[in-house]
Amino acid sequence: SRALALALALVSVGALASIIALSVLYAKEKTKDLEPSPTSPAAATTTADSSFPSPSSSPGPPVPWQQYRLPDTLAPVHYAITLWPRLEPDGRGLFIFTGNSTVRFVCLKDTDLILIHSNRLNFTLLQGHEAQLMALGATAPAIKTTWLELTTDYLVVQLEGRLEAGRSYLLHTEFVGELADDLAGFYRSKYKENGVEKILATTQMQPTDARKAFPCFDEPAMKAVFDLTMIHPLETVALSNSINYDPINVTIEGRNLTMTRFHSTEMMSTYLLAFVVMRFFHNQIRIWARKQAILEGQGDYALEKTGPILSYFQNYYNQTYPLTKSDQIALPDFSAGAMENWGLITYRESALLYNPAFSSIEDKEYVATVISHELAHMWFGNLVTMRWWNDLWLNEGFATYVSYLGADSAEPTWKLNDLMVVFEIHGVMQEDDVPTSHPLSCEEGEVQKPQQIRHLFDTITYSKGAAVLRMLSDSITEEVFTQGLRTYLEEHKYNSTICTDLWKHLQVAVDEASPGLGLPTSVEDIMNRWVLQMGYPVVTVDTRTGRLSQKHFLIDPEAEMDRPSPFNYEWIVPISWMKTGVKQSPLWLTTKEATNSNMTIGGADWLLVNLRTSGFYRVNYDQENWERLLAQLDTNHQEIPEINRAQLISDAFNLARSKLVNFTLALRTTKYLVRETEYTPWLTVSNNLNYYFLMFDRSPLYGPMQAYMVKQVEPLFNHFKDITANWTKIPDKYNQVVAIQLACKNGLKACEDLTYNLFNAWMKNPSNNPISPNLRSTVYCNGLAAGGQREWDFAWSMYKNASVASEAEKLLWAMACSKQPWILTRYLEYCLDSERIRKQDASYVINSIAANVVGQPLVWDFVRANWNYLFNDYGNGSISFESLLYSVTRRFASEFEYKEVKLNNPRFPDFHQALERTRVNIKWVSSHKDQILSWFTEEAKPKPQP
Ligand SMILES: *[C@@H]1O[C@H](CO)[C@@H](O)[C@H](O)[C@H]1NC(C)=O
Ligand SMILES: *[C@@H]1O[C@H](CO)[C@@H](O)[C@H](O)[C@H]1NC(C)=O
Ligand SMILES: *[C@@H]1O[C@H](CO)[C@@H](O)[C@H](O)[C@H]1NC(C)=O
Ligand SMILES: *[C@@H]1O[C@H](CO)[C@@H](O)[C@H](O)[C@H]1NC(C)=O
Ligand SMILES: *[C@@H]1O[C@H](CO)[C@@H](O)[C@H](O)[C@H]1NC(C)=O
Ligand SMILES: [Zn+2]
Repeated sequence: SRALALALALVSVGALASIIALSVLYAKEKTKDLEPSPTSPAAATTTADSSFPSPSSSPGPPVPWQQYRLPDTLAPVHYAITLWPRLEPDGRGLFIFTGNSTVRFVCLKDTDLILIHSNRLNFTLLQGHEAQLMALGATAPAIKTTWLELTTDYLVVQLEGRLEAGRSYLLHTEFVGELADDLAGFYRSKYKENGVEKILATTQMQPTDARKAFPCFDEPAMKAVFDLTMIHPLETVALSNSINYDPINVTIEGRNLTMTRFHSTEMMSTYLLAFVVMRFFHNQIRIWARKQAILEGQGDYALEKTGPILSYFQNYYNQTYPLTKSDQIALPDFSAGAMENWGLITYRESALLYNPAFSSIEDKEYVATVISHELAHMWFGNLVTMRWWNDLWLNEGFATYVSYLGADSAEPTWKLNDLMVVFEIHGVMQEDDVPTSHPLSCEEGEVQKPQQIRHLFDTITYSKGAAVLRMLSDSITEEVFTQGLRTYLEEHKYNSTICTDLWKHLQVAVDEASPGLGLPTSVEDIMNRWVLQMGYPVVTVDTRTGRLSQKHFLIDPEAEMDRPSPFNYEWIVPISWMKTGVKQSPLWLTTKEATNSNMTIGGADWLLVNLRTSGFYRVNYDQENWERLLAQLDTNHQEIPEINRAQLISDAFNLARSKLVNFTLALRTTKYLVRETEYTPWLTVSNNLNYYFLMFDRSPLYGPMQAYMVKQVEPLFNHFKDITANWTKIPDKYNQVVAIQLACKNGLKACEDLTYNLFNAWMKNPSNNPISPNLRSTVYCNGLAAGGQREWDFAWSMYKNASVASEAEKLLWAMACSKQPWILTRYLEYCLDSERIRKQDASYVINSIAANVVGQPLVWDFVRANWNYLFNDYGNGSISFESLLYSVTRRFASEFEYKEVKLNNPRFPDFHQALERTRVNIKWVSSHKDQILSWFTEEAKPKPQP
């Protein structure tokens, strides 16, 4: 699946840019996992929710049903499942679904125990038990007892006799579950059409919620064939992974219904299953959405790009699309960004629908890359699946990497391969530079519980995974990389793998390449350094001596590393470089240090390492080379490639925070910006200065800092003012959006006037919005920040009426820009009312309010006051603690705030990260604030013209 991360980062450049850890966390699971585990059945029970007495266990190894991983005794082959979701509440006001399932499995080792995953399902007793067992061609042993093991999510079936290895059996169950609005498993979503509320039923199984829909062996390597039948109201359509037979009309319990049976699926994992029952419309290649959205053409962009991206991947993987159909559906309530269910991809609306009258270029870019990401999974992930979740990084990192290649093939003018550096790599470098980070991969045994699995869906997995695969592909050439990939898919299709299987195939491709690639060691050996140890190096180049050295990069140089690494935090580093604009032949740094006499330079020459930022590391130089690079930026910055200008800025700022260079060097990299008009360097500056803003926007330093930024950004603002004919003709360019954001954020008068006037023009004539979609986020935010209740209530009514999801998201974000505490408090309260703000959006809104300097203390109080309700009752999967705790504490930089976090720690599962961050902030602010104040004060002074 693809997290919402990018959309958030984009919508909120400069304000929220680094809120990325939006992996969805399920509060209920967390609390459940803390409960002591019952050990043996006291009695069979028919309900999932009722607890039963659990005698304490005898000491010794845990019994199989206390272990989170399934035993290796049984393997599923085939499921026949019938499900009947009710789209209206029953007598108790509950939405439910009923169903039955028969799973055929083969016994691999003799056993008298069947464990099958089941969560929150109530079973009908069949001859006194929750399940019925049959054997193929023999008599099955009788069932001794059955019960539900709540902690580990099992239906446990204990037998009188043994199942025999080699034989096949059938297990039949009949059950009822809740079709809740919890965005997990089989759940319900709602929307309005012509003022009438409509309910639909849909699924999100990944990672461990298929077990909420029907009993199953819910591990990715337990692939099987699925035959699904769906019973649903006459006027609705049912979709699933495979195509359907003609629906027939049936009468059940006196009701006229439709029964839709689907073709057998391929051999596939449970987490990739999907089924949807709805009244939606679709266009030709079956992009489904609300009727109005389809009629308005909001699916046209996805329709236009899906075909080209699919054929790009068919060619890239050298495999035809493995299925006979492809459906994509936009859902009104969806917690992640999208989910790659095989043949039926589900999206939140803003990730699939695009309307040029409302959506910005950033929204369009998001749609293109999310579609590309999910289509990439149809092969990598779905056709070949990781054996267990510890290799999730390979699945998600790969899809993230190639999503840029696929989207680039569909939108070649966007320079997406460069944007990947600022969208994915810079952000994750700032997450992976603390001792509390973690390696990409871990042992299978380290991730067992559903909660641990959900924790893996983080930025490290997606973005660092993408970065190290991109680094490998660049080092061995893309041609060799794809060759290895193709044979890997061919050998392992319909099966599951571990990441060394991929390394083996890449190694064969490397060995066959001609001319030879000159790798210092095997692919596996190189990659293990990047995958099995956390963090990354800073490579220091001394151009006076040609000496290269590497060291683990930590943002706080005094941080304690208590996690040992099998490689002592040394890496095998590909070094690409140029001398004064001329590319040189690349080399490898395989030891802690080495000398290369070619890298000794003098005179006015400069040396630049890590071209295109293809390596996942930072680079430091001797002071002389830094000075020569700065001089080059000041004279003719275009001699240094755009993406490396961004890299120099990012490296300088982060090296300064880690005390490896003087922080004035970092600030000096921003001086040439008066001549910079490209997007990526500006975005990088904006993201890095954001830390300064967060640390100082409540302090006297804020004034001089703003004055300096106004000075820097004014030429950019004027540049775009000219080429857009005074903001009337907006081409599809990212940079303007950033220009206006920065200019307004820093109080440029011309910009404040512009946005104020645009917003007011809209308020006067609400049905005719004069603001270019690319400028809307910024204009809305500034309009609402300058205004009061009238403006806010106007935005709220526009939000309620918005029929385009990306427009609604912009308004949701902008409403958090108000400067009035009471308005923000009211807005926070709306977050707990799903009639006002959808559960899928609650986190987003709360985080946005916390990013506002006025809103942050309000959110801090709100979160503490409503902690239990937010995470246990209300959130239930849709609110992420990590991102919330991060956004609310990231300004903290005083002893007082440190104590406040500490005081609340028992309630915060990840509080030590917040504490650690606060501690680092305190240190940094106290040792730098005076010098920073004088630097900005000095630089903000008007200079005599030369
Ligand atoms: C499953 O339920 C459906 C609908 O109630 C019914 O038609 C079907 O016979 C059931 N299947 C089995 C094997 O009981
Ligand atoms: C399952 O059983 C429990 C306990 O009787 C009940 O509270 C719950 O509502 C049932 N769930 C459904 C979907 O019927
Ligand atoms: C099923 O019922 C619907 C609604 O009454 C009707 O439009 C449709 O033609 C029927 N389908 C069949 C196969 O009878
Ligand atoms: C179901 O369909 C039959 C035949 O079309 C019709 O006579 C009957 O009234 C319908 N029942 C309901 C509850 O709509
Ligand atoms: C692509 O696949 C075909 C059929 O499996 C195979 O014959 C061919 O060698 C493959 N091409 C490459 C470049 O791997
Ligand atoms: Zn994915």
